[in-house]
Amino acid sequence: MKFFVDTADIADIKEMADTGLLDGVTTNPSLIAKSGRDFIEVTREICSIVDGPVSAEVVALDHETMMKEAETLRKIADNVCIKVPLTIDGLKTCKKLTSDGTQVNVTLCFSANQALLAAKAGATFVSPFVGRHDDNGFDGMSLIEDIVTIYSNYGFETEVLVASIRNPVHVLQSALIGADVATMPPAVIKGLFKHILTDKGIEGFVADWEKTGQSIPTS
Ligand code: E4P
Repeated sequence: MKFFVDTADIADIKEMADTGLLDGVTTNPSLIAKSGRDFIEVTREICSIVDGPVSAEVVALDHETMMKEAETLRKIADNVCIKVPLTIDGLKTCKKLTSDGTQVNVTLCFSANQALLAAKAGATFVSPFVGRHDDNGFDGMSLIEDIVTIYSNYGFETEVLVASIRNPVHVLQSALIGADVATMPPAVIKGLFKHILTDKGIEGFVADWEKTGQSIPTS
């Protein structure tokens, strides 16, 4: 399973990249606004930190303008992945861009039928939003299950990128279902490392080791 971080905060992205476990980055207009940075500049900086796909989202709602915006965004770096909304214009844009070899992430997916459309439009990634689905009384994980089943039924190559993740349990469930990618806020990635028994275990080993008076030579 690939791990993407869902943020435009450079310090957080660097911290995650330093673990060696980061496969990509997703941003959206809200995350760019939160960063307080110029969209093009911050996207360029993110692309220089991470080798994998960096999703940068168009903001136009019509196909022609989306294409023009995508043209600007894909010039930023080779690893830019154009993010488009799951609308007719968004999918027209997806079809056109992917036929030229550009990576496209189709975002704001809330149904399995929408995911089917994204795959037919040649999307590189589809982003079903589990947290927002749960928030509105639906079952986000059953949506992921349905999409993974449909893509496997027909051999679609579109990767299921689980988005709007709120906690480590969402990550676990996505992995059990076999989703390709999880994009997570930095706090959720950090949460994956944690276990109270790991902390207690370290505490015990350190205390017992100190009693031996020994040290392991480091040079
Ligand atoms: C990812 O691509 C989405 O932009 C993101 O996961 C949305 O998350 P939110 O529902 O927490 O805003």
